[in-house]
Amino acid sequence: MDLRGANVLVTGATGGIGQALAKALADRGARLVLTGRRAEVLEPLAERLGCRAIVADLADRATAEGLLDEAGRVDVLVANAALPASGLLSEYSIAQIDRALDVNLRAPIVMAKLAAAQMADRGRGHLVFVSSLSGKAASGHASLYNATKFGMRGFALALREDLRPHGVGVSTVFPGFIRDAGMFAEAGVSLPRGVGTRSPRDVARATVRAVERDLAEIDVAPLGLRIGALIGGVAPVLSAAVQRRAGGHRISQGLADGQRDKR
Ligand SMILES: NC(=O)c1ccc[n+]([C@@H]2O[C@H](COP(=O)([O-])OP(=O)(O)OC[C@H]3O[C@@H](n4cnc5c(N)ncnc54)[C@H](OP(=O)(O)O)[C@@H]3O)[C@@H](O)[C@H]2O)c1
Repeated sequence: MDLRGANVLVTGATGGIGQALAKALADRGARLVLTGRRAEVLEPLAERLGCRAIVADLADRATAEGLLDEAGRVDVLVANAALPASGLLSEYSIAQIDRALDVNLRAPIVMAKLAAAQMADRGRGHLVFVSSLSGKAASGHASLYNATKFGMRGFALALREDLRPHGVGVSTVFPGFIRDAGMFAEAGVSLPRGVGTRSPRDVARATVRAVERDLAEIDVAPLGLRIGALIGGVAPVLSAAVQRRAGGHRISQGLADGQRDKR
């Protein structure tokens, strides 16, 4: 899919990764529509990049559905917005559970349905879902986040098969720990020596590649973490034991503490 002149809708554009995504897509010549909740971040960003901004709360079901109408023609949808949804399930109210599921999973599904219908009519388009390595390997203190990110993976893989005959591509992006900006960087958790990170620009570059080459899946993490995620998929009990030994719970607990205000 050629991004030049394509209408691209990016959710979560105000976040650490979203801002890098918006810049990379604008550099490829895409015509962007950016969305997020914080108007004070979204509007100056859209002005800098010369594109449209739509302030929208994806936890609100009617808003998530109306967003596609408001955006107009969409050739590429990048479903990037998410809540960290970290911490023990027992700490969550039912309303907070609903919000995490709505923002991280329901909104991308609903938006994909609406965007895919118009793309299939034109025989052209692409859907991108920003998941996480937490969509391939589970860890303690992350059950809700794992649920949404694993769910996104299954959804995207199946949808890719369904949309293939209609000329619509589907990609899922799996970032590991992302430094400098975004939900991990803002939590202020230090990683054990040897656990590497990637930058928001790396995620943006991978996303552009996934769209342009119609890749089903792309990881954005150092080799060690990618292997860890692979083991998490084929041998989850072993993966849990290794994470326990390597202090994985300290990291997840730290994340939950640092992200408590984003529930
Ligand atoms: N950072 C990492 O290390 C990392 C690793 C793996 C995967 N990811 C994934 O990458 C994506 C981007 O994460 P990030 O690090 O950029 O996080 P972030 O900086 O916290 O940004 C999250 C974005 O989601 C938006 N959002 C949250 N709740 C929303 C709601 N109710 N309605 C509309 N928008 C909402 C935020 O908008 P407002 O700020 O305007 O409210 C913001 O733009 C997420 O899907 C995340 O799961 C991140």
